[in-house]
Amino acid sequence: MRGDPVSAPSFPDPQPTAPPVSPLDPAWLAQMANAMFGALPAAPGPAYDPRDALAAPAVAVTYPTVRPAMPEPPAASSTPQFYFVDAAVPPPGDRTGAHPAFDVHAVRRDFPTLQERINGHPVAWLDNAATTHKPQAVIDRLAQFYAHENSNIHRAAHALAGRATDAYEGARETVRRFINAPAVEEVVFVRGATEAINLVAKSWGVRHVGKDDEIVVSHLEHHANIVPWQQLAAATGARLRVIPVDDSGQLRLDEFARLLNRRTKLVAVTQVSNALGTVAPVAQIAAMARRAGARVLVDAAQSVSHMRVDVQALDADFLVFSGHKVFAPTGIGVLWGKREVLEDMPPWQGGGNMIADVTFEHTEFQGIPNRFEAGTGNIADAAGLGAALDYVNRIGIENIALHEHALLDYGMRELGAIRGVRLIGTAQDKASVMSFVLAGYETFEVGAALDRQGIAVRTGHHCAQPILHRFGLEATVRPSLAFYNTRDEIDRLVRVVRDLAARRRSA
Ligand code: ALA
Repeated sequence: MRGDPVSAPSFPDPQPTAPPVSPLDPAWLAQMANAMFGALPAAPGPAYDPRDALAAPAVAVTYPTVRPAMPEPPAASSTPQFYFVDAAVPPPGDRTGAHPAFDVHAVRRDFPTLQERINGHPVAWLDNAATTHKPQAVIDRLAQFYAHENSNIHRAAHALAGRATDAYEGARETVRRFINAPAVEEVVFVRGATEAINLVAKSWGVRHVGKDDEIVVSHLEHHANIVPWQQLAAATGARLRVIPVDDSGQLRLDEFARLLNRRTKLVAVTQVSNALGTVAPVAQIAAMARRAGARVLVDAAQSVSHMRVDVQALDADFLVFSGHKVFAPTGIGVLWGKREVLEDMPPWQGGGNMIADVTFEHTEFQGIPNRFEAGTGNIADAAGLGAALDYVNRIGIENIALHEHALLDYGMRELGAIRGVRLIGTAQDKASVMSFVLAGYETFEVGAALDRQGIAVRTGHHCAQPILHRFGLEATVRPSLAFYNTRDEIDRLVRVVRDLAARRRSA
């Protein structure tokens, strides 16, 4: 009736509240994964003494040349890699084979899109900072999920729900191992790095950041690691402060030290700049921030496909990345947080999956990570992310880093030698990205000329306008590398840019 006060309905509770149905206990899952794959040796990270943080030069991360022993891909006839072994399920497609020694031509055959021709030329995909291509193993994993495992998870006691839950929770464990997180519950599935940062801002931020507090970001950040903090600052009366960069595009740690004070609540920095390729000394930044009593968020969206990312070595509080930049599908990503930090955070979205018990008066929330995963998750793409990380493990992230560094050095040298090219981002420690502008051309003109030759690069502001403004620019041409790129592709890029430059000079 209109005007009646709303009161709780008096229906009897049909059943006593059932405990949340979760076919997989995470501890048991971890045990099973260990039993099946064996514990990996912890990746060597820089030994860390916080007292050295201010004095020491940027931490030089050295990559071991020997790969840690990783699980071998299943042979075609082997048992499916499900935790609930089910003979009805065929093994996940694995056409990748193992690559004991890195062979770029062999790995390229794993990627169907790299076989495409664009404008009559083999595609040269140099737009990996925007997104990466997917190996057949990932494409097969999605097809397998929808053909053989499709179900919602956790909520039902039937066999397909068990398979889907295995796929989802198995992927969570794969992520945990990939970033060397201490506990699988610390891995939260989200849509991507942007959503992960928004989650932290809207949950941790609202609880812990108040008026006159300070949030520190760097000049290198892309918009996803600026705008959510600006919104938080606007809502709470906090201030956003910015670590400047030098003319090479490296962060000024001396200036960072001056920014830190007792009002600093959070330092949120990218590990690799998407616009310049600068590798920021995030372990050192985290140590300095901790000394000031601040929490640390590392945006690994642009680093996770290029170098070993070890959350225990970094000792940050949060780390985020997107699946699609590490050969996985779009729409899936990861927020990792230290257990005690996540446990102290309120949910940011409400709905199914994240609750333990609901009445009209009150809701009990699940523990981590479920309390941050309201609604039906992106189950298939989580499985795809697991397959992508397995694929990267099989190649070996150290092999990837070595191959890419050689290409990057070559590309920077060749591009830098062209008259009229100005390289943007020349820090000593760089990954993947070779941003430049060419005198006499708009960046989109260079992009279009490259596209005519089948070479894909991004041009524009790369969703990172502040750092381009720092260099007096609105846009750059941005070739960006992944492990499947070749010297030949760089030679093709350089040829087009050289021709454009020569044409302008003779015009
Ligand atoms: N952040 C993505 C890029 O750098 C979209 O292109």
